[in-house]
Amino acid sequence: MAEIVYLNGRFVPYEEARVPVEDRGNLFADGVYEVIRFYGGHPFAMQAHMERLARSAREIRLPEIDVAALAEAGLETVRKNGIGDGSLYVQVTRGPAPRSHAFPREPKPTVFMIARELARPSRSLVEQGVACITVPDIRWARCDIKSIGLLPNVLAKQQAVEAGAFEALFVRDGILTEGTSSNVFAVKGGKLVTHPEDGHVLPGITRRLILAIAREEGIGVEEEPLAAALDAVDELFISSTNVEVMAVVSVDGRPVGDGRPGPVTRRIQAQYDRLVERVRAGESIDGLIAPRAS
Ligand code: PDD
Repeated sequence: MAEIVYLNGRFVPYEEARVPVEDRGNLFADGVYEVIRFYGGHPFAMQAHMERLARSAREIRLPEIDVAALAEAGLETVRKNGIGDGSLYVQVTRGPAPRSHAFPREPKPTVFMIARELARPSRSLVEQGVACITVPDIRWARCDIKSIGLLPNVLAKQQAVEAGAFEALFVRDGILTEGTSSNVFAVKGGKLVTHPEDGHVLPGITRRLILAIAREEGIGVEEEPLAAALDAVDELFISSTNVEVMAVVSVDGRPVGDGRPGPVTRRIQAQYDRLVERVRAGESIDGLIAPRAS
């Protein structure tokens, strides 16, 4: 349970953490966020997440964030709550101001962090793989920003849950872009195919780690749009901080490949597990992640 949360430079009991009702996060979803994984109390690729947070903040013209100080406070939030395997949620909004669309003259961002226990996905789920559905991608053209405006994602995920599926995959102009909170990879003829880093997807940290793993393993990668028809797709998987690497064995009720997690997916999962164990032992894996081009 989260007992102590971080709010605007202070550690406070959960029940005492208060944000003004006119916070722009509340009124306009005017803010950005990150989710950072912890294993055995150690952060997983935290630097990459903090850099992405700083970029998201810049892109929506929030005042500059002191990333190093925030990272330190994030670690402290995890420690104070005695979190072993868990995740840290970090949110920065443009802060409270009387409701008006334009920015307040002197914004005072609200910075909030909460840490919660979160177990790794169960062995049985990983071995079985998951079902997904497809939904129209009705989101905006800046999905590269990790905005807290997630209504299309929320609606799509709920649709998946109601269909008995694990995740909904967005389709834009016949292209499978990403999941509601995950990136998507296909395996075609032994090569990985994943959507390029553009405005239609979040540049996932897990995605970048998978690309690094693929390079090490000698698996070819094509950062190209993936046709939603899934022609000639042998395997499919999703990736995210929370779900890690998860095989997708059916889409809209149709099996992918032979309907079981495939060999390339399992190879990447095995290497990802090794990264998790390295982090659990106190090692940093940030050096593996290539910085983004822009
Ligand atoms: N979501 N795409 C979207 C739309 C996401 O929201 C996420 C992560 C990802 C995967 O990114 P990463 O590998 O950096 O976690 C892709 C987080 C976990 C969330 O919203 O809870």
